[in-house]
Amino acid sequence: MGKVLSVTEAVNVLLKGQIVGLPTETVYGLGADATNEAAIAEVFKAKNRPSFDPLIVHVPTLDAVKEIAELSEAAEQLFLAFSPGPLTVVLPKKNTIPDLVTSGHNTVAVRIPAHPVMLEVLQSSGLYIAAPSANPFGFASPTTAQHVLDQLGSIISGVVDGGPCSVGIESTIVDMSSDAPKVLRLGGMALEQLERVLGGITTELSSSNPSAPGMLTSHYNPGTPLELFDDRDALLTALKSNSNPNGIGILYWGETIAHGSSFNLSELKSDSEAACNLFKGLRLLGRAPVTNIYVHLLPEYGLGRAVNDRLQRAANK
Ligand code: TXA
Ligand code: MG
Repeated sequence: MGKVLSVTEAVNVLLKGQIVGLPTETVYGLGADATNEAAIAEVFKAKNRPSFDPLIVHVPTLDAVKEIAELSEAAEQLFLAFSPGPLTVVLPKKNTIPDLVTSGHNTVAVRIPAHPVMLEVLQSSGLYIAAPSANPFGFASPTTAQHVLDQLGSIISGVVDGGPCSVGIESTIVDMSSDAPKVLRLGGMALEQLERVLGGITTELSSSNPSAPGMLTSHYNPGTPLELFDDRDALLTALKSNSNPNGIGILYWGETIAHGSSFNLSELKSDSEAACNLFKGLRLLGRAPVTNIYVHLLPEYGLGRAVNDRLQRAANK
């Protein structure tokens, strides 16, 4: 049965070739030694994750990035500007990383996480750590150690508790393996920030059988159907005209709405606070006694784009 582990215990688990829940600033990951194929197979199994969906490899330094990937000048600039942080860069891979991690692709997704506990685990184990988000495939990502234990506690030995994640949504993924940088997943690093370093950047958020397969159109399933609204008044009108408004949950932001099953992502209308609260809100409303969840989408800037992207996937059946 999974329990809370110390950093030393987690490092020992990893060195034995077993899997463990680890905190990062974005979401909790399910970590394994990226060079140990048996451990990687365990990660796919625990998450019920299809083998065509490659894993992100976490490393502590830019030097370690160079040990597992070919680093272009432009990619190096990106790491220097934004790492450690909520950014994953796809690069041509070196043979240090087994094909199982990258699902046979000749690229590897690399990230230098900013969480002090994760960095300590990386430094003291000396490992490259492959870690997908620590949730069963298709469900909301965990942003606390308890979420990991709730979802995977019966099949992993434990999780290191690094507190609630400060970013709360997964990293932004940028493909730098060819000449034209492409954003494959919107995430904790805003596009506007990336553009300051990369200039124009194309976004290729794939849906089915994609180059970033975690980007399937249906994902982050809270178990209750979502209805999305661009406009707060439209949401309130729909709520009022429903025959049983108490049977509807609402996920919104801004001024407080007095309503039974409701979750305010950010009263201050902050895109980063909303991102930080997103999965918690989806989880709470997913457990509430409601038949539907009405959602007020965020404005399309900063992390609002990444939040809306996840809400759209959560709304898809
Ligand atoms: O914030 C994060 O990125 C978290 C924390 C734990 O670091 N991890 C995470 O991993 O979100 P996961 O497995 O849930 O999502 C990884 C995404 C998937 O969509 C996968 O397809 C994509 O990264 N990916 C991995 N390797 C890739 C590659 N070589 N080329 C393109 N996409 C890749
Ligand atoms: Mg995931």
